[in-house]
Amino acid sequence: MRGRLIAFEGGEGSGKSTQAARLAERIGAVLTREPGGTPLGETLRDVVLHHRVDDFDARAETLVMLAARAQHMAEVVGPAQNNNRTVICDRFSHSTLAYQGYGRGLDLADLRRMCSWASRGIWPDLVVFLDVPPELGRARMARPADRLEGAGAEFHARVHAGFVEMAREDPKGWLVIDGTGSVDEVAAQVAEGYDRWAGVRQATPKPPWEL
Ligand code: TMP
Repeated sequence: MRGRLIAFEGGEGSGKSTQAARLAERIGAVLTREPGGTPLGETLRDVVLHHRVDDFDARAETLVMLAARAQHMAEVVGPAQNNNRTVICDRFSHSTLAYQGYGRGLDLADLRRMCSWASRGIWPDLVVFLDVPPELGRARMARPADRLEGAGAEFHARVHAGFVEMAREDPKGWLVIDGTGSVDEVAAQVAEGYDRWAGVRQATPKPPWEL
């Protein structure tokens, strides 16, 4: 049995890190993030998000994200799945498609193949997309803290449109959550959607013959 992989996706300020942690605690999953999740991955995260170069090439940016993912798969995600643990990852391959594909304009078919290669063919079993209009996400952040957060309103609008399109193309694999409510409201929606997806029975009273 291979554990499931659940990815949380969304734009900046969508609240996905908080919500990924909430669901991981609720279901006892391994919680990790991208880029990052390993010592090498966290070093690469620092390079790709905080490197003070204005003309970081889009392909170089992609390859750093994918290097972090390859290490993450080898060191954390793959072994946890092999131990039948559910893994919740704060961002995964669909962030590459949204940011480097829809956002930077790199070819989506190329990126899909490269993501598959980096992740050893593994794609999330479920993507939880916290849908927050980019303007609201930006307003939630005090100020852009890194290179991608500061990439501009048009860039973030394309990223958001990309997530919306990918969710529409794969309604069974994506759980779209309205991320504009309070943390508790959003967590309740995530929990309900996850339970439905996982086939867990809701709190309907059991029939007498099952008591
Ligand atoms: P966050 O996890 O704190 O939101 O920051 C990660 C940043 O990296 C975010 O701006 C999205 C970006 N990113 C990519 O551009 N491509 C990727 O493949 C991944 C995983 C993240």
